[in-house]
Amino acid sequence: MTNRSLLILPGDGIGPEVMAEVRKIIDWFGTQGIAFDVSEDLVGGAAYDAHGTPLHDDTMAKAQEVDAVLLGAVGGPKYDVLDFSVKPERGLLRLRKEMDLYANLRPAQCFDALADFSSLKKDVVAGLDIMIVRELTSGVYFGEPRGIHKEGNERVGINTQRYTESEIARVARSAFELARKRGNKVCSMEKANVMESGILWRDVVQEVHDAEYPDVELSHMYADAGAMQLTRWPKQFDVIVTDNLFGDLLSDLAAMLTGSLGMLPSASLGAPMANGRPKALYEPVHGSAPDIAGQGKANPIACILSFAMALRYSFDLGDAADKVEKAVEAVLADGLRTADLLGEEGTTPVSTAEMGDAIVAKLAAS
Ligand code: NAI
Ligand code: MG
Repeated sequence: MTNRSLLILPGDGIGPEVMAEVRKIIDWFGTQGIAFDVSEDLVGGAAYDAHGTPLHDDTMAKAQEVDAVLLGAVGGPKYDVLDFSVKPERGLLRLRKEMDLYANLRPAQCFDALADFSSLKKDVVAGLDIMIVRELTSGVYFGEPRGIHKEGNERVGINTQRYTESEIARVARSAFELARKRGNKVCSMEKANVMESGILWRDVVQEVHDAEYPDVELSHMYADAGAMQLTRWPKQFDVIVTDNLFGDLLSDLAAMLTGSLGMLPSASLGAPMANGRPKALYEPVHGSAPDIAGQGKANPIACILSFAMALRYSFDLGDAADKVEKAVEAVLADGLRTADLLGEEGTTPVSTAEMGDAIVAKLAAS
């Protein structure tokens, strides 16, 4: 037993394929004296096939105990006919809900070799490394009252933006903790100019900062101005913290500054556990990609970078995380590309396993 426990849930489609490459990296760290206590279990369609439910209670219980959960992807056409209550996605939703993962982390990181992939100018994105922290369990997607009703002879649709102080304070703490492991800078975004919930957001973030994180540099920005600044000069940011709705938009915007779905990791964090580590689920942003599943075409980098996030944010192994990211950078600089990273030119793509092996080889050489 080590004091680093990791639950791996490969899931469906390309999930197991990309996770097999992460296993190679975990094994390599094991040879370097950085060992993990790894267990593996089923989620999504794979769990449904075995147990008739997309997440077995035992798996849920295990997820609550470990330091970090690493998930591949869930879903696929085979399961489209299932009842909503047992769809593969329900397994993932149950994990997020029962672990109470209120802070969703979406990095936007640009590897120099892929800077040409961006829709923005190369010098705007080269070297970019920012983190969007989106509040995930409250706000306008959950607030009451909600619904569609009739007033006279027209229909009215209602959603309510509602935040409590404690909901704002806890996600602000997640952002400040992350900033301390990165560039020590947080920009909070809301619309305090037109929304009362935005005024409260700004006040609470400032209060948490002043009382607990005075060492972190804090600024505030209206979210619409933030969207402009993200496309104008994204490198001015380190950590951005924002609510569920603005975070949904800004995290997708920021992700696409740097390119392909096969490259994008994510994390969802909850409250600190007894050992001080936050509850945590790491997963690539992409889905199970049924169109390429089973063909060795999937890009494993999104899942590998999700593991790197786990190293940094759950295990305090920032140096190891840097190493993984540098190894990814190095194979890309060598010109290695899975099919999703190729344009129309005639270069031959490498397979999922070749990409994973090349990253491990770079680690070994580092
Ligand atoms: P998707 O992300 O699976 O695929 C979208 C496109 O990107 C496809 O053309 C796919 O081949 C490509 N792609 C995705 N990841 C890639 C990778 N690592 N390397 C190379 N190419 C990659 O999204 P889609 O097609 O909308 O959904 C497919 C299934 O996945 C559905 O059942 C959906 O419900 C599920 N899904 C699951 C998610 C999760 O587990 N978190 C998230 C999104 C979708
Ligand atoms: Mg979205």
